[in-house]
Amino acid sequence: MHNFPYIITISSEKGGVGKTTLAANLAIYLKAMRDDLPVTIFSLDNHFTIDRMFELAGQQLRGSIHEMLKGVPVKELVHIGQYGVGYIPSSTELSELSETFRGPMSLTRMFAESGFGGIIIIDTRPDLNILTQNALYAADRVLIPVKDMPSLENCKNIFALFDQRGIDKKSLYLIPCLIDSRIKYNGLFKDQKTLLRAFAINRGYRCMDTYISKSPKVESLNTNPEGKIYPILTHARGTDVFRQFTEIARDILRHYDAAPEPRSCLYAAWLREKEGKKKETYRARLEGLAERCLICGALLTDKPELRGFYYETSDRASRGFLHNDCFTDLLCATLYGMTSQSQAYGAARTVVADRAKRTVSLFFPQSGENKAILDYRQFSMEGEQLFRKELPMQGFSEGEFDGTNDRLFLLLNEALAGYEGSLREGTWLAVHPVDAGAPEAVLHDERYRSLQQIQARIAEKLEQSA
Ligand SMILES: Nc1ncnc2c1ncn2[C@@H]1O[C@H](COP(=O)(O)OP(=O)(O)O)[C@@H](O)[C@H]1O
Ligand SMILES: [Mg+2]
Ligand SMILES: [Zn+2]
Repeated sequence: MHNFPYIITISSEKGGVGKTTLAANLAIYLKAMRDDLPVTIFSLDNHFTIDRMFELAGQQLRGSIHEMLKGVPVKELVHIGQYGVGYIPSSTELSELSETFRGPMSLTRMFAESGFGGIIIIDTRPDLNILTQNALYAADRVLIPVKDMPSLENCKNIFALFDQRGIDKKSLYLIPCLIDSRIKYNGLFKDQKTLLRAFAINRGYRCMDTYISKSPKVESLNTNPEGKIYPILTHARGTDVFRQFTEIARDILRHYDAAPEPRSCLYAAWLREKEGKKKETYRARLEGLAERCLICGALLTDKPELRGFYYETSDRASRGFLHNDCFTDLLCATLYGMTSQSQAYGAARTVVADRAKRTVSLFFPQSGENKAILDYRQFSMEGEQLFRKELPMQGFSEGEFDGTNDRLFLLLNEALAGYEGSLREGTWLAVHPVDAGAPEAVLHDERYRSLQQIQARIAEKLEQSA
């Protein structure tokens, strides 16, 4: 658990509700209450309040939150600042980044892989852009300050985000903020905080027991000639807000201590499992491969570097690699009746080989009354049909080899063999070029998925022309 951070995100679509004040002061309280607990804070907003509060004079900065979002490890960007709180410097360049940021779980993943422990507090912008979403989904605890009915109204968007991804909403807590205790109402709800809490609970939202008062003292903490921001902990002793922050920090620590595993830890376990499954299916794919080149019959392990193509049948029962030369010679013979004895064979073969490396070949044998026909087609790597030719397969049914189609017959017989010497009815075979440097890469998750897409496109095309 030590190497997985517990994340607290402060979020609200409303500006000026006290998010940044809450985030920064909470960090200071937590650190003061628990000296040995690493507490880290950063902001996804483009103002520098956090920096002004925590930076040490003359501190050399090693990058900002911008770098972290670009993939630099969290560890390398945390600066230990004032009050012993770690902070990651803010950045003004996040808005461009948010347009290209990949997916809503990237932050969760970064924390899962960070090897960094303690509590991390994230201050967000007053919107629900992709960065805020990332901060919300990564959080073990989300604090949503609400100061009035409109900000309470806005909460439903955050709850909706959690519904969308099917994430448990029990981490979400509203906290009434900027409560003016001088405002009193007649009737059931005697004051602002009671009213807000009643409405929140009525809507099924969880509310923290504490609230935060509006305090002229707090407001004055960031207006002083030095342009500094002073913490509530040291500069607002004796006020309501001082006590309220103590309560909030205690509550957070109680939750932190009670949490068996932070989300980052669970996510890391999930990633490991997914990775393991990927490897497992990859291994299963490898195990299903034929040991020999079906054309020449040689063991592929003898000269693995000569593998140039991968074939798979439409029923996936037969799969494996073919030698580069074996398949190229097969195409020359099958499509153009050329053998090594043919005139200008070298030049013609180069053209065929070149094309074979950029296309997927389909072989679909069909046996009629007493003659066999081969439906041969070429597809682009995107699955577009480029070429089609029907070829007679003299002697195939009889098992006669004529010197031209030997390679083809061997391939079809081996790959599509069914019961008692006949082929598997309606089954076809596609041959895909592979990267000579790393033929197995074609079986890696992503590549294999796109290969399967081409197979599916081919099946579609065949259906259409049937
Ligand atoms: N409890 C409080 N009492 C009075 N003023 C506050 C309180 N909390 C925050 N403020 C003031 O309200 C303004 C907005 O606070 P801030 O934390 O920046 O909100 P946000 O991050 O939601 O925009 C600031 O000027 C801040 O000093
Ligand atoms: Mg703010
Ligand atoms: Zn071969």
